[in-house]
Amino acid sequence: MTSESKFMQSEIPPLLRALHERFRFRISGPRRIARVDAFTIDLADWKLSLTNRNPCFWIHTPELLALPTADLADEITDAAREQGWLSETTLILFEGNGTELRRHLALTYDPFLVVDAAQQKEIVSAPSPRRVLVDLLLTQVPRCELAPYETNRPVTGNRFFGRDHEIRELLKSQDNYLLIGFRRIGKTSLLKELQRLMDDRDPPGDDELRRVYVDCAVITTAEELYTEIVSRLSPADLKRILGRQSKRYQRQMFENLADLHGGQITYLLDEIDPLLENEIQAKEFWDALRGASSADKAVARFIMAGYRQARRARNDPDHPIYNVCKSYPLGALSLGDVRGMIEKPMADLRVHLEKREEFVHQIYSETAGLPNLVQFYCYTLLQRLDRGEIPGDTVRLQDLRAVYDSPEMRDYMLESFMANSEPIERALVAVMASSHFGIRGEPFTLANITAEMRRHHFSLKLPILDSACRDLVNGGFLSPERDTFHFTIPVFALLIRENYSVDAFLQDLRNEFKHRPEPRGGHVA
Ligand SMILES: Nc1ncnc2c1ncn2[C@@H]1O[C@H](COP(=O)(O)OP(=O)(O)OP(=O)(O)O)[C@@H](O)[C@H]1O
Ligand SMILES: [Mg+2]
Repeated sequence: MTSESKFMQSEIPPLLRALHERFRFRISGPRRIARVDAFTIDLADWKLSLTNRNPCFWIHTPELLALPTADLADEITDAAREQGWLSETTLILFEGNGTELRRHLALTYDPFLVVDAAQQKEIVSAPSPRRVLVDLLLTQVPRCELAPYETNRPVTGNRFFGRDHEIRELLKSQDNYLLIGFRRIGKTSLLKELQRLMDDRDPPGDDELRRVYVDCAVITTAEELYTEIVSRLSPADLKRILGRQSKRYQRQMFENLADLHGGQITYLLDEIDPLLENEIQAKEFWDALRGASSADKAVARFIMAGYRQARRARNDPDHPIYNVCKSYPLGALSLGDVRGMIEKPMADLRVHLEKREEFVHQIYSETAGLPNLVQFYCYTLLQRLDRGEIPGDTVRLQDLRAVYDSPEMRDYMLESFMANSEPIERALVAVMASSHFGIRGEPFTLANITAEMRRHHFSLKLPILDSACRDLVNGGFLSPERDTFHFTIPVFALLIRENYSVDAFLQDLRNEFKHRPEPRGGHVA
């Protein structure tokens, strides 16, 4: 990033200059886009929807200030489109009176936030510029747009919460790691946040890449992975990796790439389950990764993430991955992490939480600390405040009930269950939900599950049931207590009963067994 010290003072808007000088906010720019000066500013610390490269336009030249407002709004929108900034919250620092411009930009439905000359002055001279700026922005956008909550995409920077322990260990260590975690637990987010933090602390040189994130969801062989890596890091060598000498190139590949990019490269390999499924016997591949990351060479480091295959491979001491990396189970967020995700953003958005501690505990227990569900709770509460369904600025414990009971929450839970479970887990949940344990909300043991499955003419071996239950615990659907389990979210059992038929799930499980050459320990009695 370039600091503004390189530029003439007049090239930097006074507000950005003040934020940089007083609070060390990092700024880059200006860059001319058509006739508009563009900057980015790192506002990630604020833990709002504002990012570490938050876009900012400065409208200050006489020619722009003289334009009719509608034309100016068009120029701003075009410049944002050209930069690919349209879906980002863009600050517009406008050296005039912003009322008209604000009205025009509001018509575009894109998230532009106009800070006019008088407001910039007010912010610069305030003891807490952040407080004044946020208050001002809240008059222009609904709270849920300014909030850092995101329920649909991996999150980093300002939208990433908690996981301090994991991050500290992964940043400190030089070892290879395999993160093992259920769907939507935050694997991709953690990998991308690590990449961001590593690049921040040890920035790569110009044209160098020292951390590379690779989504391996559709990569099933070592060759495909190598090709993807080379196409990203050294496209000129693609011919060599694909040609007749490819084996020879592969042996030197990680060293060559490290030489080319100024040092050890960290490969963040996401979704490695398909690769593990196909490469089970590929000792050569895992040996190559081990060799490249060995202490004497240290030209590569691998931080990988996966779920079912990853766990199977790690539990198998004969699998070649065993000697390549440490495994790291990625579970739900801690109570502290959940608190961080709720309290600070809510306070920044001027939302008062009545009985704050109880409030946080209740969200933690109703979501089992699953990050995506916590996000969903927070986002829904803000949405209800914005729509006036929760009056004023205070959220009370009883407002959580409405989230919990909302059709959106129910759809969300069912969808995520259906998308993220295997037939055995679905059958088990359906059987237990419709048993008296599920109906009365009582805890049950593995022996109870075995008996209930038997009543439905299924006989499953204990290790299979145990593993399915553990997967359901990881996914937040069941909670363990000593040697019993119960439905984490009681309404979930009711939803399953109301929406699905036990027989259909059992039929799916029967089909699964039929199609597997070797049943994994279960059969129809
Ligand atoms: N550290 C975090 N802070 C805040 N929210 C998080 C965090 N980790 C995950 N989330 C929430 O969970 C959602 C899923 O995260 P992510 O995509 O990283 O999970 P994943 O394990 O990679 O999922 P999948 O298995 O579907 O690839 C995000 O959209 C976000 O709402
Ligand atoms: Mg992912």
